[in-house]
Amino acid sequence: MNFEFSDNSLNKVSANALVVFAFETKLAPSLTQELSNLDKLLNNIISQEIKNENYKGELGELVQIRTSGEILAPKIYVLGLGKKEEFGSNELRNAFSNFVKKTKGKISSMAFSLLNSKEADFDWSIQSQMAVEGLLLGNYKFLKYKAEEKKEKELETIIFAKCNKNIQNKIKEKIKKAEVFCKATNLARDLVNEPAAIANPTYLADLALEIAKKTKGIKCAIYNKEQIKKMGMGAFLGIAQAADTEPKFIHLEYIPEKTAIKDKIALVGKGITFDTGGISLKNDEHMINMKTDMAGAAVVLSIFSVISELKPKMTVMGFIAATPNMVSGKSAVPGDVVKALNGKTIEILNTDAEGRVTLADSLSYAVKKGATQIIDLATLTGAAEVALGPDIAALFTNNKELEEKIKKASVKAGEKIWGLPLERTYKEMNKSDVADIANIPSSRYGGAITAALFLEEFVDKKPWVHLDIAGPAFAGKDFNLGPKGGTGFGTRTLLNFLLI
Ligand code: BES
Ligand code: MN
Ligand code: ZN
Repeated sequence: MNFEFSDNSLNKVSANALVVFAFETKLAPSLTQELSNLDKLLNNIISQEIKNENYKGELGELVQIRTSGEILAPKIYVLGLGKKEEFGSNELRNAFSNFVKKTKGKISSMAFSLLNSKEADFDWSIQSQMAVEGLLLGNYKFLKYKAEEKKEKELETIIFAKCNKNIQNKIKEKIKKAEVFCKATNLARDLVNEPAAIANPTYLADLALEIAKKTKGIKCAIYNKEQIKKMGMGAFLGIAQAADTEPKFIHLEYIPEKTAIKDKIALVGKGITFDTGGISLKNDEHMINMKTDMAGAAVVLSIFSVISELKPKMTVMGFIAATPNMVSGKSAVPGDVVKALNGKTIEILNTDAEGRVTLADSLSYAVKKGATQIIDLATLTGAAEVALGPDIAALFTNNKELEEKIKKASVKAGEKIWGLPLERTYKEMNKSDVADIANIPSSRYGGAITAALFLEEFVDKKPWVHLDIAGPAFAGKDFNLGPKGGTGFGTRTLLNFLLI
């Protein structure tokens, strides 16, 4: 998609279609300034058509009007922005995303102009960012394995009308930011959507190496099974040993050119490239989408893929323990005890609680490498999804300040995150008879909390946020900002966080 500018007002811009906005109000939809201008030029055909179609202006609602020579563009789309009192930047992003989904295959160029200060209480640069994010996220498709849909017409050109040089310079930067955010989000989606047979540990490691190779300022180290063993990552190995696929431990590091900020932020992603459950095998229904179980890793990789374009001021490290969780003669079995990098022993009582076992080593390694703050993303527990539903990630933390920063970043991103308590009295449920800790709790109630408490044992009291993204990492049906499948949830929150 290309983003262009025109000094002209909408009636004098040539494009396949114009997009103008209406708000939903009690009686008739209220037309924006731009829309009433066009309506007048077109002898009220827009307001007529809105009436005929019983159009309400609900968020994302679209009506199409054909013009006949009065203006350059042959078509006008009226795009609903919903109720004025509920309208904000996230709604604008959703409106544009709905627009691009509903006009899929129909137009290749579109022009619109930004809202005035009475219509939106956020400035043109934020409006531009939201518009571009909505368009690029809503336009996402995973077509690699589809023959027909690949041939559809693509929306290629977006024209910002009524934009003089002064405004252009102000908004160009935000358009660029939106493009980078969406490129990363859509990469995370691709990685999740890719079948496990392709997106295996080597595939993720090769991507990490490629990112480091083409980006100045990023280093990458990959460790194979032998090295993982030598390093003392017995927990990761305990899960990885079942598979024929070579496990990989991925360490990425971005070092800013010059900065006074001493922080070393570690981003840790769960990298189970497929979760069968292991010997504690999942049933078919529960296994079906388990290629998603590396969504945390996908987010971490996506961030490094664009980090040099955003230039955060602190060092950022990325850690991924990548392996599928397989069932085989080499699988760990219930009762096996493994030793994590930080010296703690773990009794594996259920091989399907594999994520926390691999994360034990990733988190320990982050501590060992000098992380001053740790953020992990993991499709960790079905219980998190039971608690908060499919759209909201569960946040756990030992540090209020870090929590506030992440929450603020998530609001900007339009990604929903809700804090759950790290209830330490529940630690008792993670006790093992034979090892320092068990990988499943004695009760299934509060399963997202006990999993978070397990992870806390490996962060050595460093400021830490754990995001359980089991719900929002994968959409079971088409959603506002994209199609069914990987959502890239977390990428834009963390990018915002790194830029605070
Ligand atoms: N990868 C799953 C969690 C999951 C469930 C992710 C649904 C996405 C959607 C995880 O490894 C798992 O199997 N967790 C178990 C833990 C239990 C055995 C303590 C669960 O949540 O049932
Ligand atoms: Mn599992
Ligand atoms: Zn899992």
